Amino acid sequence: MQFYRALKMQSISEGRYSIVPIRMEDRYEIMNWRNDQMYHLRQVKPLTRENQDTYFDTVISDLFEKKEPSQILFSYLEDDKCIGYGGLVHINWIDKNAEISFIMDTSLEKEHFEFHWTNYLTLLEKVAWEDLNLHKIYTYAFDLRPRLYVALEKAGFGLDSVLKEHCCFENKFIDVKIHSKLNNEPKIRKVNTFDLQKTYSWINDPNIRMYSFNKDSVTLQDHAVWFFNTLENPGREYYILEVNGVAAGSIRFDFDNEQLAKINYLLDPNFTGKGLGTYLLEEGVNFLKINRPLVKKVYGWVLPDNIASIKIFEKLDYKKAVKESSEFKFEKTLK
Ligand SMILES: CC(C)(COP(=O)(O)OP(=O)(O)OC[C@H]1O[C@@H](n2cnc3c(N)ncnc32)[C@H](O)[C@@H]1OP(=O)(O)O)[C@@H](O)C(=O)NCCC(=O)NCCS
Repeated sequence: MQFYRALKMQSISEGRYSIVPIRMEDRYEIMNWRNDQMYHLRQVKPLTRENQDTYFDTVISDLFEKKEPSQILFSYLEDDKCIGYGGLVHINWIDKNAEISFIMDTSLEKEHFEFHWTNYLTLLEKVAWEDLNLHKIYTYAFDLRPRLYVALEKAGFGLDSVLKEHCCFENKFIDVKIHSKLNNEPKIRKVNTFDLQKTYSWINDPNIRMYSFNKDSVTLQDHAVWFFNTLENPGREYYILEVNGVAAGSIRFDFDNEQLAKINYLLDPNFTGKGLGTYLLEEGVNFLKINRPLVKKVYGWVLPDNIASIKIFEKLDYKKAVKESSEFKFEKTLK
């Protein structure tokens, strides 16, 4: 395997998927995918094997030794099989931003486009935030593939700008859309399979358990069953708070009916005391309203000694509905 001098972590894995420094052996597969997908790439004619060999021998081989290369490219693997490639390109080391590039095996696009984009972004964000400490990453896309925006928005990217009629495609001028994500903003996103371990660590954390209604400890196996059921459960919405690309807390809504949902939220103890609990409840409910527009009311139960949570509900104008009890109920009608 080649090594990037610019990186501390050479490969990043989540389950069966990983990104590793771009591998010479994957070059012809990559060439084929690029040729299949020329319509959305900045590539004017099909690549030949000779073109690809020259590119790897001249441009790519130079990237590994550089302290600040203009691009860092990876092979995207399922187990050890390359099923895509991409990386951070046009890296601006002064302004700390970079463009994201990615293409997957063309045969995967029809059924698994969103899954692999989301997966790949999770891996690449670790490089961007944790290793390179970039401030902003973005995609630059000809406005041809609406499915891409679904994957980007799921991963917490927002539409940054639209460059009107910026490129000529089949004799028509079309827009370019730039989606971006910043390093320093807390974000709420939907939970995904990669959150299994982190959410499990929260369940048994004594600081969090202290304020739970159910104080029994939970095995990883039990949690996994619950977690994967929850991902599929239409009666639940489960979100993660992310700070600098790291999962910092969660908020879950269990629906009694389509208009009424019960709240459960928690912060990783490393992130308490910074106002993030308040942010999580407020923005979690805002995100819920986007995903479930029919929801009218939310409520949460709190133990009387959970002063931080009581303060948060009060600060966000929740009404205390049950006063004389060993548990407090806070509820809010949503506008
Ligand atoms: C509840 C929880 C999310 C709060 O996190 P947090 O980081 O303290 O949240 P914030 O920083 O937004 O603080 C909320 C308020 O509580 C105050 N507070 C925090 N801990 C406190 C304590 N032990 N005693 C008194 N006030 C406290 C803060 O000063 C802040 O008040 P302010 O806005 O007037 O300054 C976190 O403690 C947690 O995860 N607890 C376990 C799970 C839980 O209880 N969930 C809620 C049940 S549904």
